[in-house]
Amino acid sequence: MRMAISGRTEVFAVIGDPIEHTLSPAMHNAAFEYLGLDFVFTAFRVTSDELENAVRGACALGIRGLNVTMPHKSSVTEFLDWADPSVKFLGAANTIVNERGRLRGFNTDGIGVLKALKNNGITLTGKKVLVLGAGGAAKAIAFSLMKEVDELCILNRDATKAREIASAMKPFGKIIEGNNLTPQQIQVELQDSDVLINATSVGMAPCTSESLVHPAWLKPDLRVMDIVYNPIETKLIRDAKTAGAKVINGLEMLLYQGAASFEIWTQCKAPIDVMRSALLSRLSCAGATV
Ligand code: ATR
Repeated sequence: MRMAISGRTEVFAVIGDPIEHTLSPAMHNAAFEYLGLDFVFTAFRVTSDELENAVRGACALGIRGLNVTMPHKSSVTEFLDWADPSVKFLGAANTIVNERGRLRGFNTDGIGVLKALKNNGITLTGKKVLVLGAGGAAKAIAFSLMKEVDELCILNRDATKAREIASAMKPFGKIIEGNNLTPQQIQVELQDSDVLINATSVGMAPCTSESLVHPAWLKPDLRVMDIVYNPIETKLIRDAKTAGAKVINGLEMLLYQGAASFEIWTQCKAPIDVMRSALLSRLSCAGATV
């Protein structure tokens, strides 16, 4: 049972637009309750023209922490007093801590993928990773992977974006390439890749029969991760399982980015299993295929 809300209860929230389908309150409130913390997590729809007022207002109200989602991850950086290196590099934040009126920004999207991979037994040292997509999520993933992998290839429909990320990552001194996302290119790159990450929205409901990767190109020694979590089992994940590959679904990224935010806010170890169960039950209530 959660503690009764009182004048001492600390408030956390996610802001975005739209926001009604967010899974963050379910995940964080379950963790607060499990650890007996007198915290509550809620969600606010904030339009772009109200972002500044909302952030200043959250500060004035003493809201202890914010998650920031679409479409505010970039614009919110303007209101930060301090930014983590990942925020500086990516130009986007998804986690804010309010420390007595000073706003500190972090980006846990990439850490989410890194931890999801590692905690599912996938080693990255010396490996080649193929990332499909070059949007905000793909960039955050590439940034986190850079410290670990030997080689990274980013493919995107709009190849310019893939090349931009690749050139921004050059200082890391790893082999990194950005190219056009075509079926032929995916097939070629998969031949010597150890890990494949779909960081596009392809396969997301309602287009659940779509995948960018032909099943015949998947092999048992490939590790396959999809950041799409609705459905939890995308076509790519199903095909990869059939091919005998190890798979990690999008729920794990959501979980571990949430856990990283939780640990930044509370300085407590995130109860991963409790948070995963909360996400699964909320998704199944919402009719997602679990
Ligand atoms: P996010 O923040 O989740 O990364 P985003 O920044 O809008 O969202 O990026 C979406 C990604 O999915 C992009 O890489 C996009 O490719 P483009 O940059 O070429 O638009 C990719 N994407 C979306 N639909 C796609 C499709 N049908 N085929 C291939 N890539 C697609």
